[in-house]
Order: sequence, then structure tokens, then C-alpha cells
Amino acid sequence: MPAPGLFVYSNTATSIDGKINTVAQDRLALGSHEDKRVMHLLRAQADAILVGGNTFRRWGLPLVEDPRLVPEAPPRRRPVINAVLTRRGLLDMDRRRFPDPRVELLVLGGPQLDAAAHQRDLGAAVLRHDAPDVTWALSVLAARGCRRVLVEGGGDLIAQLLEAGLLDEIFLTLCPLVVGGVRAPTAVDGPGFPGAALPRLKLLDLRRVEDELFLRYAVAGSR
Ligand SMILES: NC(=O)c1ccc[n+]([C@@H]2O[C@H](COP(=O)([O-])OP(=O)(O)OC[C@H]3O[C@@H](n4cnc5c(N)ncnc54)[C@H](OP(=O)(O)O)[C@@H]3O)[C@@H](O)[C@H]2O)c1
Repeated sequence: MPAPGLFVYSNTATSIDGKINTVAQDRLALGSHEDKRVMHLLRAQADAILVGGNTFRRWGLPLVEDPRLVPEAPPRRRPVINAVLTRRGLLDMDRRRFPDPRVELLVLGGPQLDAAAHQRDLGAAVLRHDAPDVTWALSVLAARGCRRVLVEGGGDLIAQLLEAGLLDEIFLTLCPLVVGGVRAPTAVDGPGFPGAALPRLKLLDLRRVEDELFLRYAVAGSR
């Protein structure tokens, strides 16, 4: 299990039908400028940002706050960890934006990952496990001294964290858009939960800015 002191929170922007991207998985932001500001504020509060390989590969940018958007955030004393849980590895992604001195890139996956190639092409350290999963990924981050881990999706990773009872809070921006499409990714994918065991949330905060709703939930019974 990860260290008890670890606080794990997710941030996702969804359409009103719960989608986080289109069926074509375009490279698009669903939220407004305010959603972007909130995203950067939540990043600024994290020691590490954890994502699934699909999200990281498609976005292709270092995950770090932009101080121009959150001038109130104290400057970092060390790079923020970008941790990517992946089976395939990241050697097939657009690598033009890496390495980046603002982030320490950790690639977390199985024994088949090529550590030397990730170091050479992305400046990334590879950590391997015979059966990589979210519990192990969080243990790695806790062992590196992280206290606050922001999960920026996608739906596959968030489903696994909920299933494992390892997500403490969910920040969700409900955007005034309809995406549709049965195969469009949603905020929580995976196999789904049985009706008798749906994760239950407690609303901690609700803020409206124009047509967007900023929701913050605690996950009941986490850990
Ligand atoms: N609107 C938003 O706020 C938001 C936020 C994030 C993402 N998105 C969108 O969501 C989509 C991605 O979501 P997603 O659910 O498809 O993917 P995801 O959760 O980002 O990533 C799934 C991937 O994570 C890796 N993975 C998951 N479990 C693993 C395990 N136990 N061991 C090793 N690797 C594991 C695999 O990566 P590999 O494929 O690398 O092997 C898997 O394909 C994209 O379209 C993205 O743009 C939207």
C-alpha cells in the first residue's frame, strides 16, 4: 500500500454527458480559460502528476503549472514528477517537448520496457514491476517523498484508482458541451462497478463561472 500520508486527487473536465474527449480523441481542451487556471492551480499544489500512457502520449506536453496563470503559487524548489503508467512505453510519442527541466519524467511499467531508450529519447527514468498497477505506482511516488499526487486521467486510470480505493478527492469541471458517441472516453471507464458497489461521493464545493460548474468531491470510504 502507498504511504498513509499520501493525498491523491484527480482533475477532469467533462462534457455534460460525462465525456472527456471525442470519439476521434482529438487533441482538444473542453474547458474555458478558468478551467485552465484551476488545472494549473491544482498542478501547483502537487508533488507529482500521474497519468495513463494514452493521456500522456496524446497530449505530448510536460505536465507542469504555468506561473503566468497562477502567479500566487510559490516557485518550485525541484521539478514536478510526471509519472506515466504504461504497458507500451512512450517511445512512439512525439518527443519534441522532452526532456524538460521543469519535470522529472518517470515511466512506470512492466519488465519489457526499454529503460535505455526512454532515457536517451525522453530523458526519462523507467521503473519496472512484474505486475504494474496503480497501487504500485503510488508506492513509487510515496517512496520518493511525494505527499500530494494529482491524477490527470484518463478514465482508465481513474477507474483503477476508484476500484482500489486510492482516490481521496475528485475535482471535476462540468463544461457546457455535448460530445456524444458511445466510444468516446469518459471520466471513469474500465469495466464499470456493480450496482451494489458504486463509489459514493460527498460534495465538498460547487462554484459556477458563467456556464461552467466547478465541482469538488470527497470519495467516501477511500482507503
Ligand atoms: N478532459 C480531460 O480532463 C481529460 C483528461 C485526461 C485525458 N483525457 C482524454 O482521455 C483519453 C485517454 O483516456 P483513457 O482512459 O483512454 O486512457 P488513460 O487512462 O490515460 O490511459 C490508459 C493507459 O494507461 C496505461 N495503463 C493503465 N493501466 C495500466 C497498468 N495497470 N499497467 C500499465 N499500464 C497501464 C496503458 O497505457 P499504454 O497505452 O501506454 O500501454 C493504458 O492504455 C484521451 O483522449 C485524453 O485526451 C481528457
